[in-house]
Amino acid sequence: MTLRLPHNMRSWLFNALLCANLAACNDNQTTPPPAAATPTPVAAPLATAQNSPTTTSLPAPFALAQQKNCVVCHSISSKMVGPSWISVSERYRNDNNAVNTLTTRILNGGSGTFGAVVMPPQTANLTPEEAKYLAQWVLTLK
Ligand code: HEC
Repeated sequence: MTLRLPHNMRSWLFNALLCANLAACNDNQTTPPPAAATPTPVAAPLATAQNSPTTTSLPAPFALAQQKNCVVCHSISSKMVGPSWISVSERYRNDNNAVNTLTTRILNGGSGTFGAVVMPPQTANLTPEEAKYLAQWVLTLK
């Protein structure tokens, strides 16, 4: 006699793994997990989908900022190690060249605009396209 996992439990497990990877399944709650279904260390084939950010389809800007660790030093609305991005946006509000200026500043880092603390260069972390995308987004913040 063999112990068989009921089919519905297997599909629940699959869904749980899927949700853990996509982190976007909150609005689709199905039945709660059966108590016996402890997480099993199954290799998740879906993880590869996130590993290669192509330059043609960038993630949402804040997600990219998180992924690139900008949020270690910045938040949208409060000053941390770096200025809040709203204060950056305010400072450049009337600057027609702001996208270029900030793209360059994001890539090269620097100091002196908001204080003496230095932002480290991000050239190893970001493509110029990603830097421009983040600069454009920061400038939309209010
Ligand atoms: C180690 C901390 C740190 C990290 C990581 C960091 N920054 Fe900064 N950032 C700073 C500091 C400090 C300043 C202020 C520099 C100044 O006063 O000129 C700054 C300034 C900026 C500015 C304004 C530049 C200017 O000239 O006005 C932008 C935009 C910015 N950061 C975006 C980002 C983005 C996007 C990332 C992630 C790719 C990032 N930062 C990562 C610390 C950091």
